[in-house]
Amino acid sequence: MYDAGKIIPGLVVFVALVTFPIWRGVADDLPKPEKPTKARQCVTDTATMRKDHMVLLNKWRDEALRTGDRTPFVVEGKKYKKSLMLGCLNCHEDKKKFCDECHVYASVRPYCWDCHYEPKEKF
Ligand code: HEC
Ligand code: HEC
Ligand code: HEC
Repeated sequence: MYDAGKIIPGLVVFVALVTFPIWRGVADDLPKPEKPTKARQCVTDTATMRKDHMVLLNKWRDEALRTGDRTPFVVEGKKYKKSLMLGCLNCHEDKKKFCDECHVYASVRPYCWDCHYEPKEKF
């Protein structure tokens, strides 16, 4: 008779070994945005930022330009400017290793840097 107690774990290990290169390949292709060193958290929780950072940026822009509200926001007791380049990029210092890492992967090209200053020395 078959010994299911050995065959099934054996099969699990076999499938895992055979498909490992695929899993590893998938993991290698995913974008790895650089972690900031200045702070341990973002302006709001990470999951929300990942999904909705463009919404927050539009909100900041509207507040700063339409209602003149440029009140700084506070992360871990430190004040930051409500600004794309002086706020977000203050912590996420290297646009290329952060914003572009995901945008290239997702084939999105935000036009923001047509106008907003992008530090040239990093390219
Ligand atoms: C005070 C420093 C700080 C500021 C300012 C800041 N961030 Fe972050 N951000 C972080 C940190 C730290 C993380 C990683 C948090 C974690 O690992 O859970 C992060 C995570 C993120 C993520 C998710 C990254 C990932 O790995 O999935 C996005 C997207 C993001 N930030 C975009 C922005 C944008 C856009 C702005 C401006 C509106 C901004 N951040 C402003 C510190 C900051
Ligand atoms: C964790 C991955 C990730 C990081 C890091 C990231 N983005 Fe994005 N961003 C995306 C994705 C994915 C989209 C497209 C989402 C969609 O279309 O719904 C996007 C879209 C945008 C858009 C809207 C563009 C459009 O044409 O609709 C803006 C603006 C933007 N990101 C700004 C930033 C800025 C600024 C940074 C760096 C501070 C940044 N993002 C970092 C993943 C990321
Ligand atoms: C046509 C030029 C132009 C484009 C394109 C543009 N902006 Fe701006 N943006 C400006 C100007 C000008 C200001 C006003 C600067 C000031 O008064 O501080 C501004 C201000 C802002 C502000 C508030 C102040 C600051 O310093 O950041 C945010 C946030 C902002 N823009 C985000 C964005 C985002 C996100 C995109 C891309 C989706 C974008 N902008 C595309 C011209 C532009």
